[in-house]
Amino acid sequence: MQITSHDAIKAELRRNADAINSALDARLRRCTGTPPSLLTAMRYSLEAGGKRLRPALVLWCAALCKGKPETALPAALAVECVHTFSLIHDDLPAIDNDDLRRGRPTSHKQFGEALAILAGDALLTLAFEILACDVADAEMSRELSKELASATGSAGLIGGEVADIEGERMPPSAGLVAEIHAAKTARLIQASCRLGAIAARAKPDVLAAVGEYGHRLGMAFQASDDLLDVLGSGAIMGKAVQKDGTAGKQTYPRAVGVEESRRLAEAAARSAVDAIRPLGPEARLLEDLACFVIEREA
Ligand code: IPE
Ligand code: IPE
Ligand code: MG
Ligand code: MG
Ligand code: MG
Repeated sequence: MQITSHDAIKAELRRNADAINSALDARLRRCTGTPPSLLTAMRYSLEAGGKRLRPALVLWCAALCKGKPETALPAALAVECVHTFSLIHDDLPAIDNDDLRRGRPTSHKQFGEALAILAGDALLTLAFEILACDVADAEMSRELSKELASATGSAGLIGGEVADIEGERMPPSAGLVAEIHAAKTARLIQASCRLGAIAARAKPDVLAAVGEYGHRLGMAFQASDDLLDVLGSGAIMGKAVQKDGTAGKQTYPRAVGVEESRRLAEAAARSAVDAIRPLGPEARLLEDLACFVIEREA
């Protein structure tokens, strides 16, 4: 696979992150009536940084489908709120018990478990408030909400987190790893792509191609996250590494070894490129992103 320029992708992601960060700040200013301690905890995790990959996918897929960025922006903010909720809860002592996230102490380390749980709840709720209140077209609002709910809920990310913790008690299995990755990570990444296409009123065949790309990209993304747990640097990633093995997590490195894991990640990224290539030269950014996802250091 041709790896063009990671610097160019990183610069695009940074540019996108700047726009998302100021829009998130503006949106949080409208959360009137929120207890100051809760708003502080919500902002602490949201503003800690992060690659903003999912909102970038919303906006880039909307652009690919000739949509206007302002029409896709509420969905981009909503998906980052869901993602940040998922990180806060994923780090809790009852789930992965992590102390560091996005280069900062995790929410429960900083504010205690009660506020961390509630800040996660508030961000999850805010995501759907944004789709309900900030999308003018009622039918569009419903379509976007349906997509985000199905990706986040019991058959998506939250169900995947349950499978992830239940998998700790099972022998390593590549099939189970794939099922867990699809639900806990790939479904929200797929939804990010689909939300952008839905906001742009893409035709069904384009929506299907964009969604397939998102699923495959998500599979490559979590395969690479598992590899980074084994091979990566905690300082660069801003979170703990070398934890999945001792926690008994279902990961590709545990199930099939590091070499085969790398091969699977590359195959998933290559198949993501295959899914989007029919959309023409304007899909180039998304093709490059698939390469970046498996080569990244954070
Ligand atoms: C981390 O996601 C959680 C996984 C699904 C692996 P990211 O690696 O996108 O985290 P941020 O948003 O950049 O912090
Ligand atoms: C996280 O998977 C998936 C989520 C839905 C948050 P991990 O537990 O591997 O993510 P990290 O490594 O903590 O970011
Ligand atoms: Mg986890
Ligand atoms: Mg975790
Ligand atoms: Mg991980």
